[in-house]
Amino acid sequence: MKLKESKNLTLTHELIYYGHDTLRKVAEDVANIDGEVIRLIDIMYNVMYRAKGIGFAAPQIDESRRILILDLAERGEVSLELANPVIKEFSDKKEPYEEGCLSIPGISREIVRPVEILVSGVNRDGTEVELEADGLLARVIQHEVDHLNGVLFIDRLEDFERNELRPELKKIKKLNRRS
Ligand code: NI
Repeated sequence: MKLKESKNLTLTHELIYYGHDTLRKVAEDVANIDGEVIRLIDIMYNVMYRAKGIGFAAPQIDESRRILILDLAERGEVSLELANPVIKEFSDKKEPYEEGCLSIPGISREIVRPVEILVSGVNRDGTEVELEADGLLARVIQHEVDHLNGVLFIDRLEDFERNELRPELKKIKKLNRRS
């Protein structure tokens, strides 16, 4: 049931980058999973696969909606698409892991996050689901839920680390066609 990249999708949406206002907004809940939302999910997969990402949030294509997708199939884990995801529980145990982001290309840093989470949301069929996640799956879900709240992984760095990235971030901002 995993969605493969569709060649027929017209790319009406493009990846946006650090510096674009939409990446800083708190995204809005999806009222119901209709054809338009399904189409948006398909476009998200298309953009994510093109950019060789493993997780993606709707605001990254300038759609301020609470939708995330991920595909860890090549790493032996599950694919997932969730609307209105809510992380209900976080483990006390945390660990660092090197994160990157398609909207902040070329930068990766170790970020400390809880190892296990309990997350709920609505899947593509409109069914309410709840799952326990750990490892990379939990990591990606947390990264994407951050996007839905206008938070980027670099926000979780110490100030001095983020300051060091300033010159690179300035260049990334210019990748946005308009902002
Ligand atoms: Ni990201």
